[in-house]
Amino acid sequence: MRTNQVPEHIVVRQRGELHGTVDVPGAKNSVLKLMAATIMADGTHELTNVPAIADVAIMGDLLAAIGVDSTVPEPGRLVLTNRGDLVPVAPYELVERIRASINVLGPLLGRCGRVRLAMPGGDDFGARPIDMHVAALETMGAEFKFSHGDVEARADRLHGAAVSFAFPSVGATENVLTAAVFAEGVTTIDNAAREPEVVDLCDLLVAMGADIAGVGTSTLTVRGVERGSLRPVGHRTVADRIQAATYMAAVAVAGGDVVVRDARPEHMSNLLARLADMGMDFEPVPGGLRVAASGRLRSIDVQTLPYPGIATDYKPLVITMLSVADGVGIVTENLYPGRFRYVEELLRLGADVRTNGHHAVVRGVPRLSGAPVRAHDIRAGAAMVVAGLAAEGETVISGVGHIDRGYDDLVGRLRSVGADIERV
Ligand code: UD1
Repeated sequence: MRTNQVPEHIVVRQRGELHGTVDVPGAKNSVLKLMAATIMADGTHELTNVPAIADVAIMGDLLAAIGVDSTVPEPGRLVLTNRGDLVPVAPYELVERIRASINVLGPLLGRCGRVRLAMPGGDDFGARPIDMHVAALETMGAEFKFSHGDVEARADRLHGAAVSFAFPSVGATENVLTAAVFAEGVTTIDNAAREPEVVDLCDLLVAMGADIAGVGTSTLTVRGVERGSLRPVGHRTVADRIQAATYMAAVAVAGGDVVVRDARPEHMSNLLARLADMGMDFEPVPGGLRVAASGRLRSIDVQTLPYPGIATDYKPLVITMLSVADGVGIVTENLYPGRFRYVEELLRLGADVRTNGHHAVVRGVPRLSGAPVRAHDIRAGAAMVVAGLAAEGETVISGVGHIDRGYDDLVGRLRSVGADIERV
């Protein structure tokens, strides 16, 4: 599997409307967790609709170190073989490359009764603590030790417990869920995250033989089963709602009419309602969603919230759309206070955005002006590409490695609907 990216640039030139059909691959934020869950059953698992992104390769390297080998027999298919003799250790060199490495904690603790992993670092948009993961697993009987940058957890066998989250953390929900599968007795998780990617993980675990009730609601009930009782299965990764939103944002700023194939409108209903308020048209079509926009869109106010609210991962795209909309929009971030770094880059393109704490005030301008800009993280990078579609002249984006972590051929897909974009 390919893990090293050569530094490159993406060059975007404004050309006009987008037309045609674009396919949305499987979700990064799901597939990495599905991969980690293969730790829980020996044998050969098969995931399909797997995006060709750098993070999948990095998670593959981490799982190989633990004892799960993976191959890609053809694009979109990932075969993972759990050899059974696992090493429950996640070393720093691998953990620091990918935040989702924290998702091996629950599966390894449940399966092996012990785990040592390097403490995950932050992203460019701020610190990402794991206190909720730790506190919940402690109520299930785990003992934690932190030293030399590592976190170690032990519990011969976890026991069921009533876990109630103060905030519906995606990662903490996933770790408690996977750990509870092999716990003795019943675990309830109140205020659980309900993201489609959490549901996808539940669906996989249930197919493997786990006993989980309340899937898709904010109360999950997990009845523990014996270690060794799960079986490997085949599973199709849920479509990526953030990638789908990226193609919608591209249509929003460039105009046009595009079918986003495999987009799941039921996973994006709040976002679609707000984009309709801005003046976009949506029409479900067999196997996807038709997205159309013409002329300048209207500004709206938006706040990010846990699912089913507007996801924080959409926000750089939304701010980019508002940058060229008619009017003033206020965007409030409720998940990651520092997540506005890409705004500096938008300013270089001529956007009028002011940030203050959790808020951004975006005064729409008629058009942006192409310039060199940097991708600071995955979603901000995609937003720069979208901004380039609305910028006169040439926009040159560096930091492309960030985009490759989460986007499967963003350049080729946008080109297929008529964008003037290339990698150099
Ligand atoms: C996941 C997604 C990320 C998305 C986020 C919120 C993956 C790989 N990443 O991240 O793209 O932006 O959900 O939808 O799926 N928190 C704590 N203590 C904890 C856990 C979380 O304070 O123990 C805080 C975080 O710092 C953050 C907020 O809770 O401010 C949301 O975090 P969480 O839902 O856990 O996000 P992730 O699972 O890390």
